[in-house]
Amino acid sequence: MKSVSSLMEMQALADQSRGSHRKIGFVPTMGSLHEGHLSLIRTAREQCDDVITSIFVNPAQFAPDEDYEKYPRDIQKDTVLAVDAGSDYLFIPAAADIYPPGFSTFVTMDGISAVWEGAIRPTHFRGVATVVLKLLQLTKPHMLYLGQKDVQQCVVLRRMVKELNVDVEIFVCPTIRESDGLAMSSRNVYLSLEDRKKAPILFQTLKSARERIDAGIHECASLRREMESLLGSAAGVHIDYIAIIDGETLQPLDVIDRSRQTIIALAARFGTTRLIDNVIIEPALP
Ligand code: PAF
Repeated sequence: MKSVSSLMEMQALADQSRGSHRKIGFVPTMGSLHEGHLSLIRTAREQCDDVITSIFVNPAQFAPDEDYEKYPRDIQKDTVLAVDAGSDYLFIPAAADIYPPGFSTFVTMDGISAVWEGAIRPTHFRGVATVVLKLLQLTKPHMLYLGQKDVQQCVVLRRMVKELNVDVEIFVCPTIRESDGLAMSSRNVYLSLEDRKKAPILFQTLKSARERIDAGIHECASLRREMESLLGSAAGVHIDYIAIIDGETLQPLDVIDRSRQTIIALAARFGTTRLIDNVIIEPALP
């Protein structure tokens, strides 16, 4: 495993790989690696010749009142985990190199980056899209691996790649969960013991909505009411949103159309910790 911090060196190594007709898989992360990230690295390992994992806590995707400073960082532990999972390169650029003084070019998107997570975190997806485009330019992968847990991020990046003609294929890996169903997230460490016990209610709410849909309930207002009442039953949980939306446009649905992909996503705060989760309802077979 080679650790790289220089942008030019990363590009040269990627050029070398491409020149030898090796398939490059890229896993962008902000570090604090957990099983969710490791499953992306392992999938890239299975599908590609060279696997690059980046660790970069991206200041551009945090608002001034968010947790950029206290975001968990442990490069030594991450290095061991990434190597064990099969990463060939660890790309750890410096913020001053990614965003040199006077940096002024950002990727912004109409519509899908302004709703749901984007409505609550208005500059978040601009930061995500900008850094991911830069990281793609530096690592030159054939395959980009993303986790379904950040489902809106997947939709936003898919749209960016399509509309900006970026020559990379996106592979979305399923959410990895703790044994009680809580989606793995670097932010779970912020939960108090009491809130950690309550947090599985997120996935329970999603699972129960999926069961209701499978049972033939497709009217979204009543599904949302049931979800609100289940999620709201945990004391002290503040619901930011419950979204029953089209898988491509992210527009809210009145009735679930089983011929299209539907996303059920939610965000809730447990004390000061904000968690998100989702399930995807794939189109029913004809
Ligand atoms: O999902 C994340 O960890 C980040 O948003 C990403 C994709 C690494 C960009 O900073």
